Amino acid sequence: MLAAPGARRAIPQENRRKVTVTTHKTVLIPGDGIGPEVADAVREIFEAADAPIEWEVHHAGLAAVDAGDELLPPATLDAVREHRVALKGPCTTPVGKGFRSVNVQLRKELDLYASVRPVRTLPGIETRYSDVDLVVLRENTEGLYAGIENEVTPGVVTSIKVVTERASKRFAKWGFEYCRLRGRERITAMHKANIMKLGDGLFIRSARQVHEEGGYGDVAYDEMIIDAGAMRLVQNPHDFDVLLLQNLYGDVFSDLCAGFIGGLGVAPGANIGDDRAIFEAVHGSAPDIAGKGIANPLSLLMSGVMMLQHMGEKLGAAGCKEAAAMIEAAYERALSDGQKTGDIGGSLNTAGFTKAVIERL
Ligand SMILES: NC(=O)c1ccc[n+]([C@@H]2O[C@H](COP(=O)([O-])OP(=O)(O)OC[C@H]3O[C@@H](n4cnc5c(N)ncnc54)[C@H](O)[C@@H]3O)[C@@H](O)[C@H]2O)c1
Repeated sequence: MLAAPGARRAIPQENRRKVTVTTHKTVLIPGDGIGPEVADAVREIFEAADAPIEWEVHHAGLAAVDAGDELLPPATLDAVREHRVALKGPCTTPVGKGFRSVNVQLRKELDLYASVRPVRTLPGIETRYSDVDLVVLRENTEGLYAGIENEVTPGVVTSIKVVTERASKRFAKWGFEYCRLRGRERITAMHKANIMKLGDGLFIRSARQVHEEGGYGDVAYDEMIIDAGAMRLVQNPHDFDVLLLQNLYGDVFSDLCAGFIGGLGVAPGANIGDDRAIFEAVHGSAPDIAGKGIANPLSLLMSGVMMLQHMGEKLGAAGCKEAAAMIEAAYERALSDGQKTGDIGGSLNTAGFTKAVIERL
């Protein structure tokens, strides 16, 4: 049962420590920018909740380079392959120059082909819409995000959009299975197949085929041209349940949808493959606030809760589902009590919000 708001935990920490629990090794990639700050907050909350996790910390991106390593160290990839789950903070990617996104490389190397980004109204956050509850599913391995670009001649660049039947079908299948697992009723595939007749055409044809031939009649399926769909989405997000999107569309729409519920500070996500998964917030490294101690740790914390649920469901890891439920109840209670960071209308900093959640576990 939940304790009253602000009450101390019922079982003192020293007593709870005496209970023997099996811990599960999990990779933590703190990232850079605000990454390490929000990752520390999550660790603190997980520890206070006695989540049965033993972190193995690895680096990627600028943090790895600063530590004298490669941008994407093989040890980081090997650790995720071995432990099968990771929680990852954001990694900076230079704009218009420099190295290729480490985030994209990680997804590609580990074949984490489906990104899931739930968008749900939280208590205590004032937004334009109430009761939003939708999910953005994003194909994670191809599309324009493949980053295949070529300067044909100075002033002329081609960017190649890769769409394959294999990737489109396995992603659509994953989407329908996800709907079943989570009791979701309808998938809307958004596309621009009126213009990108071949690529986007193949994407929706594949989804349609999986729906018809895969026996997913229990999940409704429809399609919408993405520009009109974008307008309808901002007019009434309640018209949508689950969005099925190619890589770049999914990237844009997940930030847009985060706006429905209070912004990037409260938008969690996961990158899922057949036998591995990396959980990460939708937001980036937020260089404008990095080092100030004011970042909202909730997006990464919510991603951590998704990770615990996944470990309980898919890996049969004992104690994870319970820890997920406990942490979720605690942060929702903190928000309901008006305990919030600045980005969502509160006055707490990262440490203050972390403390507020811990007090409500
Ligand atoms: N998965 C990832 O690692 C990932 C995702 C997106 C962007 N990036 C990278 O992050 C860098 C910065 O990108 P950007 O500025 O476009 O996007 P961003 O998400 O980092 O920041 C956008 C705005 O949201 C705010 N914000 C983001 N997260 C917040 C939080 N937890 N609490 C409070 N405010 C928060 C920032 O302060 C900023 O004003 C870029 O190098 C980009 O490539 C990485």
